[in-house]
Amino acid sequence: MEFFVVQDAEAAGAVGAGLLAAVIRSNQDAVLGVATGGSPLPVYRALAGYGLEMSRVRCFALDEYVGLPAGHPESYAEVVRREVTERLSLDPANVFVPDGSAADPERAANDYEAAIAAHGGIDIQLLGIGHNGHLAFNEPGSSLESRTRVEDLTERTRQANSRYFDSPADVPGRCITQGLGTILEARQLLMVVRGADKAEILHRALTGPVTPDCPASVLQRHPHVTVIADEGAAALMPCTATRVAAASV
Ligand code: F6R
Repeated sequence: MEFFVVQDAEAAGAVGAGLLAAVIRSNQDAVLGVATGGSPLPVYRALAGYGLEMSRVRCFALDEYVGLPAGHPESYAEVVRREVTERLSLDPANVFVPDGSAADPERAANDYEAAIAAHGGIDIQLLGIGHNGHLAFNEPGSSLESRTRVEDLTERTRQANSRYFDSPADVPGRCITQGLGTILEARQLLMVVRGADKAEILHRALTGPVTPDCPASVLQRHPHVTVIADEGAAALMPCTATRVAAASV
């Protein structure tokens, strides 16, 4: 596992974008896994600055709420459209998000899992981590072998995400999420973590037991993981040797 400690969001974006750019430069048909939430946004912004030819790049989102109407500004389909597709000038036909407004969400989840496989699997998957250790929307208790499926969101996650909605009651209670087993099949994982409030869970995920109680601990099972953390999030990590200055990356 590579572990970079950076000073701020901008540096996190620079390091993450550099890694994504390397994947895209080596393969114009790269398949990227994209996360929503706040942590990866600086990565997309920095990657846009590279001006790479990305017309053949494909993207798969990690997850989506179930039950928001199509076009809802906080649906992940819309967030990905604004923050990824438009920012990076991707072909919208190459960008996939689980269909959370489908009449049959279970079927939409199965179709999504099949679509990832049909595109050859994900080359590099961006990730964040929830305060309760959730990875994508795999909440504590999720099987480490789970596949893309419909899940309930915990109150803690709904509360955390209520910052994007008018009221906590507006946050959907269900989602479609890539499974932990699905995520583990990506060829490279890139986690971005920011803020001292994530220090404890990051430490637990990377150094504690691999257990469904902390879904992000499954990262320890992947052979190619890069973690980018700011000083606050990295505060409890035992190794300081990997600290890098943004300018040196
Ligand atoms: C987003 C996702 C979530 C977030 C996590 C952290 O697609 O699947 O697991 O990565 O909730 O969110 P932030 O980055 O906002 O702290």
